Formats: sequence, structure tokens, C-alpha cells
Amino acid sequence: MIRFDDVRKIYTQGTREVRALDGLTLHVPRGEFLAVMGPSGSGKSTFLHLSGGLDLPTSGGVTVDGQSTATLGDDGLTLLRRRKIGFVFQFFNLMPTLRVVENIALPLLLDGNGNGAAVPKAEALLERVGLTSRRDHFPDELSGGEMQRVAIARALVIDPALVLADEPTGNLDSATGRGILELLKEVSEKEGRTIVMVTHDEAAAKWAKRIARLRDGKLDA
Ligand SMILES: Nc1ncnc2c1ncn2[C@@H]1O[C@H](COP(=O)(O)OP(=O)(O)OP(=O)(O)O)[C@@H](O)[C@H]1O
Ligand SMILES: [Mg+2]
Repeated sequence: MIRFDDVRKIYTQGTREVRALDGLTLHVPRGEFLAVMGPSGSGKSTFLHLSGGLDLPTSGGVTVDGQSTATLGDDGLTLLRRRKIGFVFQFFNLMPTLRVVENIALPLLLDGNGNGAAVPKAEALLERVGLTSRRDHFPDELSGGEMQRVAIARALVIDPALVLADEPTGNLDSATGRGILELLKEVSEKEGRTIVMVTHDEAAAKWAKRIARLRDGKLDA
């Protein structure tokens, strides 16, 4: 599903160069639940950004679902993200002015679907994450665990082949985090979606099928 072949990502700030990824080779097969760990600054978020086509490598190849991100162009990358990738973030990133059901429906609406198609799909996801009773609430009326379940429902509403999660349990207590991890595991095992989850928490990483450890922008072998 994801192939990184000798990927370098170098950020230049003035005269200073930061090697965020420094020769990373890593393959993530379809349906795998992979945890990515490593010290702060080791390149974990950069790996997610390149996997999601939010940024391009300085050198080396990044292939997502058989497509090289370097050759897709802006429109191709936008479509890749809209149709195939669900993003989950540490701080949930919900739209504060939209109700829960509207937040979940948003990716479908942005892809040109009407409310008639998007809202029932969003409601089905709400039920799946156990939040039907919060349908018309606003994000600031929810607990952290509820907000993250809404964020996961929003990520899943497009039936993504790939879910990219950056510290999805980083702001949750361990019991609440456990519910999120169960959900991610189920999504990979029952639905065959590929999940890549960045985490600092060894207990969270144990939920994944495999752990990749990064150090200084490459695999820590
Ligand atoms: N847009 C950017 N411009 C300049 N440097 C960047 C940029 N993004 C990341 N970096 C640098 O690249 C390196 C890797 O960053 P990255 O965010 O991938 O680390 P991380 O493993 O996710 O760390 P953390 O655990 O703190 O989130 C860091 O040294 C960071 O400062
Ligand atoms: Mg990070």
C-alpha cells in the first residue's frame, strides 16, 4: 500500500539543512496496522505527510496505492487524499462551527456528493462509533474521546484504503485511548484497511501488527 524507497526529505531553513528523512526504505502492505515510533524529531510526522501526499520527497520514491506521489501533480494528490486516505490527528481537527454529523459528512461533500448521499453515510459511521446521541452537538460539547471518535468516523466516511493517524491517543487517558485503538484494530482486521499510527506510547503500539522504529530519519535496525 505504501512503499518508501531510499527516501530523503531535506528541509532548508536559510542556510540550515534538516534531514527529516535520511534514506528511509519501508514497505507497508495492504491491510497492515503499523505503529511508527521513535524519538521526537526522528521523522515520524514527515513519514505520514509524505505517505499522505501532503509533501513530496527531496529524493527517492514514495508510492501510495501503486501511484508515485512525485508524478501525480497537485490535482492528482488532492484526489488521492480525498478518495483514498483518512487522516486522524492528535488534536482532532474538527470544524468548531459544524455539528458532529456535518463534520463527518464533510469529506464526502468536499468530493462533490450531495447531502442526500453524505448524511446517511455520516449517520451510519456515527452509529458505528457509538455517538448517535451526539449527532447535532458541536465539537466543544464533546469529551476528548468523543471528539477523537468523531474524527475517526470522519476519516472512515470515504471508505479509505489507508488511514494515517498522528498520535491519535496522545491527548486521551488510557481507558479512552484503548477504545480508539480497538476501533483502529477492527478497521484494519475486519475491513482490510491499511493503518499507519504514529505513537510515543509502547502500550498503544502493541495494538498494531508491526512496529517500525525511526531514528534520525531512517529505520532503527
Ligand atoms: N516544515 C518543516 N520545516 C523545517 N523543518 C522541519 C519541518 N518539518 C519537520 N522539520 C524537522 O524535521 C525533523 C523531523 O520532524 P518530524 O516532525 O517528522 O519529527 P517527529 O518524529 O514527528 O517528532 P515529534 O515526535 O516531536 O512529533 C525535525 O528536526 C523537524 O524540526
Ligand atoms: Mg510528529
